[in-house]
Amino acid sequence: MNLLIMGPPGAGKGTQSEVLVNELKIPHISTGDMLREAVKQGTEMGKKAKEYMDKGQLVPDSVIIGVVKERLALPDCKVGFLLDGFPRTVPQAEALDQTLLDLGIKLNAVININVPRERIVARLTGRRVCRSCGATYHVLFNKPKDEGKCDKCGGELYQRSDDTEQTVNNRLDVYEAQTQPLIDYYNRQGLVLNINGDQEISGVLSDIMGALKK
Ligand code: AP5
Ligand code: MG
Ligand code: ZN
Repeated sequence: MNLLIMGPPGAGKGTQSEVLVNELKIPHISTGDMLREAVKQGTEMGKKAKEYMDKGQLVPDSVIIGVVKERLALPDCKVGFLLDGFPRTVPQAEALDQTLLDLGIKLNAVININVPRERIVARLTGRRVCRSCGATYHVLFNKPKDEGKCDKCGGELYQRSDDTEQTVNNRLDVYEAQTQPLIDYYNRQGLVLNINGDQEISGVLSDIMGALKK
């Protein structure tokens, strides 16, 4: 299956993706994760991206579009993919359409997780991420068994530098202005599956699986 997962920052895209890609046996392509890896490695792209990310702004289309094109052309995407965090602007969506056309593949669905804005700040300021395997936790809503330690690999949990209250508010403004309009773009293609993200993690997952089966 060729899928997009969309929704505001903190909607649960990463949390749901971790399980979905296991169930569906497809690669998880998260542009946020790819950019954070580039920052960690100190590459040219990483250095450029960090300034934008820490302010809660989008990195320029010219930086990200090429990266996604290359990623989708790798052989593991032949069985499908779950794209998380891309596209985020109209030019990115148009570039994705062209890339898929060139590769001869079609999107099957766009999973759109809805969560009211007032719920999001608490989700993101309490998020913790594993430094080794990238698994996502929350200090209240999805606690690891041992505080500060990943259940899956024992790695150290850290807080993302863009998960401060001020940056989260900027990210939400940017989402509403630049990314939310893409839901209409995909509605016109009849691809959007609207999911209620304001419920327990397991409930969100079963709603997604149910919607994909239809
Ligand atoms: P990115 O990493 O994609 O961040 P984001 O879109 O802001 O989304 P998040 O990862 O913050 O949220 P999520 O929906 O994955 O939530 P999660 O599952 O972790 O992008 C970061 C930055 O990179 C951007 O700001 C931009 O600068 C740049 N970037 C990336 N892609 C780009 C692109 N295409 N173009 C340009 N720039 C780009 O969950 C959040 C928390 O809530 C966790 O603690 C989790 O445990 C908890 N939680 C999850 N589900 C529930 C639930 N149902 N109930 C209670 N708590 C829950
Ligand atoms: Mg994420
Ligand atoms: Zn881990």
